[in-house]
This record gives sequence, structure tokens and C-alpha cells, in this order.
Amino acid sequence: MSSGSLTADRRFAYAQSLKDEGDFAAAAEVMAQALEEAPRWAEGRFTLAELLAAAGDGSGAIAAYRAYLKIEPADSMGAGARLALLGESAPASLPDAYVRRLFDQYATRFDSALVEKLKYRAPELLRAAIVAVAPDKRFARCFDLGCGTGLAGAAVRDLTAWLGGVDLSPAMVRAAEQKRVYDHLESGDMVKAVAALPAPCDLMLAADVLVYCGDLVPLFRAVALKSTGLFAFTVQRANGGTFALGPEQRFNHSRAYLSETATAAGFTVLALEDAVTRQEKGADVPGLLAVLSRAPA
Ligand SMILES: C[S@@+](CC[C@H](N)C(=O)[O-])C[C@H]1O[C@@H](n2cnc3c(N)ncnc32)[C@H](O)[C@@H]1O
Repeated sequence: MSSGSLTADRRFAYAQSLKDEGDFAAAAEVMAQALEEAPRWAEGRFTLAELLAAAGDGSGAIAAYRAYLKIEPADSMGAGARLALLGESAPASLPDAYVRRLFDQYATRFDSALVEKLKYRAPELLRAAIVAVAPDKRFARCFDLGCGTGLAGAAVRDLTAWLGGVDLSPAMVRAAEQKRVYDHLESGDMVKAVAALPAPCDLMLAADVLVYCGDLVPLFRAVALKSTGLFAFTVQRANGGTFALGPEQRFNHSRAYLSETATAAGFTVLALEDAVTRQEKGADVPGLLAVLSRAPA
């Protein structure tokens, strides 16, 4: 990353070497000097905030993240989530620009990273749960929310006549296109894409996507309006409360919150079970798998 100023870039490189040596306070000092040369360098502001947080200067980090947000309100680096972890109020969802940037960078190594390293199993578990509540059913229209590279789409392809997908990250959508399992793909936000569906769907999927949204009310309402069948999804489990942002910057949702939000949106809860869909640092991540229905139970 370059600031546009040679002096700032040199100071940044020096700050990085101090950081690598574990001297976060000295690194933050040098980074602050770099920003004197390039005050509107958003990535530099974010780096300064990270260094201050690592040095234990919480109030300094908060001020630095806020300064970054003034320069880049779209928040592609996720300062809102970092502020929440420093005790500020959490955002209701992670910003689109942050999710897009994260997955645009991740797209080419996503399948191997997720399936091989993180033991990702949401697609096959969702498929099994759908078949369990609707054995022998062939769906007419399935829409895959946050389809990513198409792992979940591929898992249900034979269950549906038509398969559409949407994802915020254009690079993930390009990877999904290469799998050639979708009839329709688009880049954009899933709530808007669902609202714009030209016809309702009898299967909606969201595999490991709701972890980027805290408040699920807008999504559940939008899906309910366009659903004539099942809505199957996975989340990371919160033990109590409603939803909360975890340290790895993914939201956790409680069983009670999911059940209440689903019912309020007009769904019947057919299944809401514990499920481990992935690992993090070698340990199972506790999750939930849900199948909701808009059709009479
Ligand atoms: C962990 S990946 C899972 C991808 C896929 N569902 C699978 O099972 O492999 C999460 C995906 O959700 C997408 N995403 C997150 N929030 C989104 C939103 N609001 N609208 C559309 N896509 C979203 C991300 O871009 C990313 O590709």
C-alpha cells in the first residue's frame, strides 16, 4: 500500500519493521509521523489505529479509527467492527465495502482455504437438512444468498430446476460463474436482490453468510415476501442475547433471536439445530442450522 508520499512510505516501512519486532508503541509513533506527510491516507490511518490498539492505547486507537472513518466512510477496512471490539457500539451489519474487499481478496483461494483448512461443511449439511424436511422434492426456483464461489449452489443443483445466486463480491461471482452450476448470477447486496426477484422462489439458501449481518429483520422480511417454500441457512451460535459481533469480526446469533425473528416475519421453524459447519484455528465453531418454511407446516 502506498501513501503517495515517498517520505510517508519510508516511515511506514520503518513502522512495519518495529511492529515485526513487537514494539507496537514505537511503531505507532513512527506511523503517526508518516501520517504528517500524508494526512488523508486512509490505509495509513487504519494501520495507526491497529498499532495503537496493539500497544494497549485503546482511546488512541478509537480516535485513530474515527479519523480513518472520516476519510473513508464506506469503511472497506472494517473500522466499525474494530471500534465495537474496543467497546464502542456494534454496527447492525458489516459494511458492504468491507465484505466486498475481504472476499474480492479471498476469492481465488476461497475453496481450498475453506474446505481443506477450515473443514467447511455448510453446503452438505444444508442439503441434508433440506432433503430431510422435503424428501423427493424437486424445487422450481432456488436463490442462493451470498453464493460466494458456488459451493452451496453445487450441493443443491440437482434439487432445483432453476438456480440463481447473488454475492457482494464480484470476484466471488466470477469464481461461481466458472463452476457453471447457476442459471443466473449477480453482484450486489442480497436484501436488495431478493426484493428485486421477478418471481418467488420455493428454496432460499444462505450458507455461512448471515455471519456478516447482525440484525436479520430486513433480510427475513425480504425473503418472506419472495418465498413460497423453504429458507435454509447456517449461522454461528450465540449463547443467549440476540446477536453479537465476535473477535474474528463475524456475528453470532442466538437460537431464540432466530426463532423470534423468523416467526415475526411469517415463517414456520421446521428445524433449528446445533451444527458445526467449520473450524477456526483447529477448533470446531459452534453453529446453528435452520430450515424455515413459508408454506403451511
Ligand atoms: C463465507 S462466504 C460463503 C459463500 C457460500 N455461501 C458458500 O457456502 O461457500 C460468505 C459470502 O457471503 C457474501 N456476502 C456477505 N454479505 C453479503 C450481502 N449482504 N449480500 C450478498 N453477499 C454477501 C460474501 O461476499 C461471501 O462471498
